[in-house]
Amino acid sequence: MIVKLALLLALGMPSALGAPSKRTEKVQYIDWNSFKAYGVNLGGWLVQESTIDTLWWDTYSGGASDEWGLCENLGSQCGPVLEQRYASWITTSDIDKAAESGITLLRIPTTYAAWIKLPGSQLYSGNQTTYLEDIATYAITQYGMHIILDVHSLPGGINGLTIGEADDHWGWFNNQTNFNFSMQVMDKVIAFIQNSGHPESYTLEPINEPADNHDLSVFGTSAALSDAGAAWVLKYIQAVLDRVAAVNSKIPVMFQGSFKGEEYWSGNFSASENLVFDVHNYYFQGRNTTSLNVPSYICTDAKATPGDGKFPTYVGEWSIQALYNNSFALRERNLNYGLSAFHKYSHGSSYWTWKFSGNATVDGQGKQADYWSYEAFIDRGYFHPNASIVEHCT
Ligand SMILES: *[C@@H]1O[C@H](CO)[C@@H](O)[C@H](O)[C@H]1NC(C)=O
Ligand SMILES: *[C@@H]1O[C@H](CO)[C@@H](O)[C@H](O)[C@H]1NC(C)=O
Ligand SMILES: *[C@@H]1O[C@H](CO)[C@@H](O)[C@H](O)[C@H]1NC(C)=O
Ligand SMILES: *[C@@H]1O[C@H](CO)[C@@H](O)[C@H](O)[C@H]1NC(C)=O
Ligand SMILES: *[C@@H]1O[C@H](CO)[C@@H](O)[C@H](O)[C@H]1NC(C)=O
Ligand SMILES: *[C@@H]1O[C@H](CO)[C@@H](O)[C@H](O)[C@H]1NC(C)=O
Ligand SMILES: *[C@@H]1O[C@H](CO)[C@@H](O)[C@H](O)[C@H]1NC(C)=O
Ligand SMILES: *[C@@H]1O[C@H](CO)[C@@H](O)[C@H](O)[C@H]1NC(C)=O
Repeated sequence: MIVKLALLLALGMPSALGAPSKRTEKVQYIDWNSFKAYGVNLGGWLVQESTIDTLWWDTYSGGASDEWGLCENLGSQCGPVLEQRYASWITTSDIDKAAESGITLLRIPTTYAAWIKLPGSQLYSGNQTTYLEDIATYAITQYGMHIILDVHSLPGGINGLTIGEADDHWGWFNNQTNFNFSMQVMDKVIAFIQNSGHPESYTLEPINEPADNHDLSVFGTSAALSDAGAAWVLKYIQAVLDRVAAVNSKIPVMFQGSFKGEEYWSGNFSASENLVFDVHNYYFQGRNTTSLNVPSYICTDAKATPGDGKFPTYVGEWSIQALYNNSFALRERNLNYGLSAFHKYSHGSSYWTWKFSGNATVDGQGKQADYWSYEAFIDRGYFHPNASIVEHCT
């Protein structure tokens, strides 16, 4: 990574002739068709979830199930409590540790409230972008990391879950008012990237796991998003592509297309778009997985993820928790199996998530924190992906 940074700096050196040119004309933007990364998510930082840090949640939520309710219950203390969270959950020492362990990309979820103050929303609008800028700039300048800037929620709610705005909120779909607010969010995010001093180090991800099926038992499957819902999502993504292109078409847009594959969407986009798909592959629900058989499911998913191959794909979220018979002894194998498979068949992955101390029990051994904390895997020296591990993947 030091070498990569040095290379970027070298490419950015003024030419011998000293022709004046802006920095953005000299630096290298990534091309997702060739770029690959070992990434991690910074979950539980600028977006809160009850499962990620049980002690913190129990201390501040007042029994709420989602961030919306947490802020409602905290009242005037919501701002101070969240500002403290932003200042402490992720610091530069986390970035140092991630870089030393081989991480080359950070996917950073934010709420829409980090970007605009939405009338009537309980989600907190404070100094999120200041913390974001500090951490991202550090990761970029110290280690040459790439940043996926993820807008996890949108006004009105995009999936009925806490991560989409609030539990049971679905109001984003087919609502032009919320569409327009979403475009205001995008204008802010695009300006943030463009004015960051390192626009070449960002990919913009404008939506995460959109779903309009109120039957949450199908969440995580293609049935979570109806064709009508998909048409609304498509209208949004095409508007985002236009906005980005109007400012800087070299900034890639990453589209998390719900749980419909790249091939479902690809026909609706021109091959010339600077577009990459984010496919989420989880094993803790929906399929009869165990720690023992997770590699075969990962293999199947890894081979399916590229879809029709029209656009590059990246696995923006995954984890090794299985539905049944979770086993401590198989964690290291399963982690490296996924890292290797998604890197070989796709353009890499980002584990969900860097820090995780949730103590809910799982089937088999241990608790959630034993399977979802990438930092804990690093502490145990687990990271050693190798394409040969998945050579015979079937
Ligand atoms: C999880 O942690 C919370 C807060 O520390 C505690 O109240 C709860 O009993 C714990 N649950 C389990 C299953 O350990
Ligand atoms: C946001 O940051 C500014 C500058 O550091 C500070 O003055 C302000 O108090 C912060 N706002 C909140 C709500 O913490
Ligand atoms: C659209 O969303 C806005 C803001 O939440 C809400 O006031 C309005 O009633 C919604 N419109 C429709 C047609 O549902
Ligand atoms: C949304 O924005 C468009 C374009 O600016 C505008 O024409 C339209 O009236 C707006 N619609 C709503 C419901 O705000
Ligand atoms: C997307 O493409 C499919 C065919 O590939 C087409 O049937 C559908 O109408 C398109 N959707 C939109 C909103 O253009
Ligand atoms: C898991 O296995 C059980 C028992 O064999 C079966 O009833 C169930 O349908 C399976 N579930 C899935 C998601 O395959
Ligand atoms: C889980 O392990 C137990 C004990 O080894 C075994 O009886 C059971 O069949 C396993 N369950 C699955 C779904 O593999
Ligand atoms: C990858 O695994 C193969 C086979 O086990 C081994 O020979 C090779 O040294 C490994 N490569 C790395 C970079 O660890």
